[in-house]
Amino acid sequence: MVLKRSFLNKEKTMLSVTCKAPVNIAIIKYWGKRHEELILPINDSISMTLGTNELCAKTTITASEKFQHNRMWLNDEELLFEEDSRLMRCLKGVQRLAHINGSQEASLCWKVHIASRNNFPTAAGLASSAAGYACLVYSLARLYGIPLTEELTTIARQGSGSACRSLFGGFVQWHRGVLDDGSDSVAEPVASAQHWPNMHVLILVVNDERKKTSSTTGMQRSVTTSQLIQHRVDKLVPERIANLKKAIKARDFQSFAEITMKDSNQFHAIALDTYPPCVYMNDVSHAIVNFVHTYNKTTGTVHAAYTFDAGPNACIYVLKENVAKLLAAIQKVFPTDSIDTVEYLRGLAVSPESNIEK
Ligand code: DP6
Repeated sequence: MVLKRSFLNKEKTMLSVTCKAPVNIAIIKYWGKRHEELILPINDSISMTLGTNELCAKTTITASEKFQHNRMWLNDEELLFEEDSRLMRCLKGVQRLAHINGSQEASLCWKVHIASRNNFPTAAGLASSAAGYACLVYSLARLYGIPLTEELTTIARQGSGSACRSLFGGFVQWHRGVLDDGSDSVAEPVASAQHWPNMHVLILVVNDERKKTSSTTGMQRSVTTSQLIQHRVDKLVPERIANLKKAIKARDFQSFAEITMKDSNQFHAIALDTYPPCVYMNDVSHAIVNFVHTYNKTTGTVHAAYTFDAGPNACIYVLKENVAKLLAAIQKVFPTDSIDTVEYLRGLAVSPESNIEK
């Protein structure tokens, strides 16, 4: 979503753009790369992007002919931008695409200063890198006047794999692709948020510290040491992707929930099958899993579906009509010191393109 794009001076030598991008919550997890630099995954994944008022990255990029270097600040701390290969690949990738698209923007030759902020804990398993890189790539695209296309997702993917899914709202599939150059490893919308507007997500923040093993390191280790991962990739994920798409299309929460929980469990089983193991969930996370299964049993039908990324925090998919009852049950079972915040997020996502200020 573009908040602002304007020249900061009369001479038009300083252009600035501000955008926002939300996190996405993986339903079928991406875990493992077939190419480290291009960030090509070993399996397809599907996620849901949250709304732009929720867990978001907000990025302002200013380009000026007066700037000497490309620089970036994340949550007010400066990063070594020009030494960071992922950040540089995103910048160069969008500039190359702008050239190919015939962009005449003078700003293409100028250096950039980038300031980005997350309105939630960074690197605590809440998909901060997904929102951050999606926002960076989208802001660069708006800066150079190029549209949001599947090709743009191949650039966001090279910042952080999961970022490519945050460029679109609603339910999004990231295709693993088969080509060596990664040009077919793109993100594609499966269904818009409006297709299933009562789909909501609760985020239970168990712990907002930085995770011990990053997703990048964890998945590298899984690919080289897990004996289960190949079976997941070859046999289980393709069927799961097809069934999940069917469930989304039919707005079938029962099937959606079962696939979501099973895939979260399988991803953490692979993490534990990694050597040395990656332990992302803690005792509270496991208590949440037990709680959800017990809760679903008492309601007589599946009302809630948990999923955990590379951290202990739980994301719970739940339909709007069941949120209040579920929230009350959570607050009864979990003492406030085991879960810092219980945030209720409307899962209604908005496609970035639909919000552009003209
Ligand atoms: C568990 O996208 O953060 O959240 O591509 O190395 O930057 P890199 O990894 P990243 O991994 C996300 C892993 C996950 C599952 C998912 O989002 O699909």
